[in-house]
Amino acid sequence: MRVDIISIFPDYFSPLDLSLIGKARGTGLLDLSVHDLRTWTSDVHRTVDDSPYGGGPGMVMRPEPWAAAFSAVASPSSLLVVPSPVGKPFTQADAAALAAQEHLVFACGRYEGIDQRVLDSAPMPVREVSLGDYVLFGGEVAVIVIMEAITRLLPGVLGNADSLTEESHSDGLLEAPVYTKPASWDGLDVPEVLRSGDHGKIARWRREQSLLRTATRRPDLFEAYPPEKIGKLDRAA
Ligand code: ADE
Repeated sequence: MRVDIISIFPDYFSPLDLSLIGKARGTGLLDLSVHDLRTWTSDVHRTVDDSPYGGGPGMVMRPEPWAAAFSAVASPSSLLVVPSPVGKPFTQADAAALAAQEHLVFACGRYEGIDQRVLDSAPMPVREVSLGDYVLFGGEVAVIVIMEAITRLLPGVLGNADSLTEESHSDGLLEAPVYTKPASWDGLDVPEVLRSGDHGKIARWRREQSLLRTATRRPDLFEAYPPEKIGKLDRAA
């Protein structure tokens, strides 16, 4: 997969050299480039913003550098992803959809946002996505989050693909609690069932915990879960 990130703070993206994203880049599974939007300015001050039409606080990103940046890095078959508090809430399903794309371009807005005409006239499809109902300084951290969610879904990135099917949000539910050694720690014991060796019983326990957690912590997800699936194990135990 190819990814181009455009930002006025390219240094924000140094974490993308680390850990499994860094490894995916090293092995060629992920071809990622970060660009400084100011490369595509043409004045001596390398201006990227101006005051908003209609008045109001803050500054808005001017359209010209963005248009020049898209001409340089994008094609009509790219997908433009713009993190923004006015975007559609980003979900695991969105991560999977983005992971299936060949080329993503991320546009990181700052200040009060990007001139709307940039999105309205972009020479490729556009997706505005929000990480949640709060406001960040800009899109940079959101892109790092989205890149983590996407990269771990790319074939070959995770050693054990089972971890993708058994994790929270893969089936619309939260994952059951997990434990490791020691079996007894600080007066607290690992649930007996997990030490029983009975895989059927363990699968049923995990399923119950998963339903219970989802119902109590995320009633919105529980409501959306197909009722006919409750009480059934999704896979043979
Ligand atoms: N940029 C600023 N706030 C944001 C949010 N909540 N989600 C995505 N991008 C943002």
